[in-house]
Amino acid sequence: MDRGELFSEERSAEVVANSMEGTRDPRLRQVLDSLVRHLHDFVKDVEPTEEEWGAAIAFLTATGHKCDAARQEFVLLSDVLGVSMLVETINHRAKGVATESTVLGPFHVVESPPRPLGADICLDHRGEPCLVTGRVTGPDGEPVGGATVDVWQADAEGYYDVQRPGEVPPANLRGLFTTQADGRFWFRTVMPRHYPIPDDGPVGALLEATGRHPYRPAHIHFLVRAAGYAPLTTHVFAADSPYLDSDAVFGVKPDLVRDFAVVEDPVRAAELGLPDRFREVEFDIVLLRVEE
Ligand SMILES: [Fe+2]
Repeated sequence: MDRGELFSEERSAEVVANSMEGTRDPRLRQVLDSLVRHLHDFVKDVEPTEEEWGAAIAFLTATGHKCDAARQEFVLLSDVLGVSMLVETINHRAKGVATESTVLGPFHVVESPPRPLGADICLDHRGEPCLVTGRVTGPDGEPVGGATVDVWQADAEGYYDVQRPGEVPPANLRGLFTTQADGRFWFRTVMPRHYPIPDDGPVGALLEATGRHPYRPAHIHFLVRAAGYAPLTTHVFAADSPYLDSDAVFGVKPDLVRDFAVVEDPVRAAELGLPDRFREVEFDIVLLRVEE
């Protein structure tokens, strides 16, 4: 009976990869083949002791145990290793035309409620008022009406609603808007604050061990969808935020940084239902068409 090649240190990756030759799904076979080869290369490079390998398994186990409906430690791990950003960038190359993408992040865990254009997504009115406006267009500048613009952000103290249940109204600082026929959208909110990613779990320990801080610069998340166009996951970053040059999850792209201007205009403020002094940011979004 042919049992194939037996395992050896030198040929370990080939032996294991060959054992999966019966994988029926060709893409799965390709993925597993590459995974085995890179993983074996990694182990041969590091030569972990058995204690170290045990610590690695314990780390991954703790990462899994930290996950629940509102906390996704594996997403955080992927984020701080730059893998989320790499996957996002590979899959959404902007081709010099579209708005750059960035990470989804771990806080898109509840559905944003549909809200009318102009609505205030800050339900507890704590923070520095801010008007967000923009226009969704296609690659040739054509307006995209009927696009859904899903937004979510941290509050003035740097927390998402799901991080302080019972303290803030549910779905605070989340909204799902639909663009007008001319592609325009606008809503009221408060200035988001920079914040640490949750660092009380295994990923926080990893950051601590590597001398890294857990902070992300202030931003508002956007997930834009429209029929016939590729969905876009991105942020707008505030130009006056700290940590723009050291985002813990590597999410900053220069094209996504905007000035949040200070506006002191009582007439406009009254029209908008904002206090006399507010902040304003304009964030236009260009989508790519779905490739036929
Ligand atoms: Fe965020």
